[in-house]
Amino acid sequence: MHAIRVGRFGGEEVLDYTEVPVPEPGPGQVRVRLHAAGVNPADTYIRTGGYAFFTPALPYTPGFDGAGVVDAVGAGVTSTAPGARVFLSSLGTTGFSGAYAEFAVTDAADVQPLPETLSYPQGAAIGVPCATAWRALFQKAALRAGETVLIHGASGGVGVPATQLARDAGATVIGTAGTPEGAELVRAAGAHHVLDHTAAGYRDELADLAPSVVIEMLADVNLADDLEFLATHGRIVVVGSRGTLEFTPRLTMRKEATILGTALWNATPAEHAIALAGVAAKLGNGTLRPVVGTELPLHDAAEAHRRVLAPGARGKLVLIA
Ligand SMILES: NC(=O)c1ccc[n+]([C@@H]2O[C@H](COP(=O)([O-])OP(=O)(O)OC[C@H]3O[C@@H](n4cnc5c(N)ncnc54)[C@H](OP(=O)(O)O)[C@@H]3O)[C@@H](O)[C@H]2O)c1
Repeated sequence: MHAIRVGRFGGEEVLDYTEVPVPEPGPGQVRVRLHAAGVNPADTYIRTGGYAFFTPALPYTPGFDGAGVVDAVGAGVTSTAPGARVFLSSLGTTGFSGAYAEFAVTDAADVQPLPETLSYPQGAAIGVPCATAWRALFQKAALRAGETVLIHGASGGVGVPATQLARDAGATVIGTAGTPEGAELVRAAGAHHVLDHTAAGYRDELADLAPSVVIEMLADVNLADDLEFLATHGRIVVVGSRGTLEFTPRLTMRKEATILGTALWNATPAEHAIALAGVAAKLGNGTLRPVVGTELPLHDAAEAHRRVLAPGARGKLVLIA
């Protein structure tokens, strides 16, 4: 089969499109013929070998999220069967063979039915992004109906499902994007207010709206400002950060603010199962509608890694196998 293999850590050039043997499912595992794989920013950090949460043994095939058709099942698997349309969510699963490939082997527990209404690329947009959005909103911020929530970076893989879930939960939703295309997508995802995080003065509008919850995708840029417009007793959930910032701790005192970090890697199996069950329910009733902005062929993984870190997000970027 074709797959992307990484034989040494480094830049995009270490992503090799090559032929490898089709993996065999062991007891409790399933094999999926993948038609699409989700590209997450973390895939690029892992590729450098300098990621805080995970350093794979070399060589490895990147990617944790994908969608396709079950092709074979190992001994003892009764939860699914060959021919089932599924998406897989395999972050942190020991023995997972990697999603940037035509076939992947993973634990049966990581495989969920893909609703008939969703395409394979949409299925590849579910795993890490939707579980992260659920964890940030409900397991960390404990968002309640009637609150105002800012999704600071709403146009990307995590931001779109976070916007859809927050709207469904009865919150007033503010979403930000950096391009008109991104803004349109955030509006379509259900945001009541859409702001441009590249525009001078957009924080003044946020001061008027005074969100009590901020889901923050770029904390090294925004955290200090978030504390200025956050409502008193508000919560900020740090989902993404790519550097450092100068920070005045006194700001947390004035608002009696709570700053919560989140990382899917730290979710307990029970928390992860709860998030996935919640996500499955919201996929089933149409609340979660994954948005795929860019599809690239599997052999273009290097280009995908460049684009996933570039500005101008339009939902999810997926590789087609
Ligand atoms: N903690 C976790 O468990 C976890 C899980 C998944 C992802 N993450 C991290 O969360 C971040 C978002 O992930 P993703 O998959 O959604 O990435 P993505 O699809 O690349 O989206 C990035 C988002 O950040 C926005 N952004 C850019 N500049 C911004 C600014 N100045 N202020 C606010 N937002 C800004 C982008 O908007 P425009 O492109 O429209 O400017 C876009 O909406 C990444 O850093 C990722 O590593 C963390």
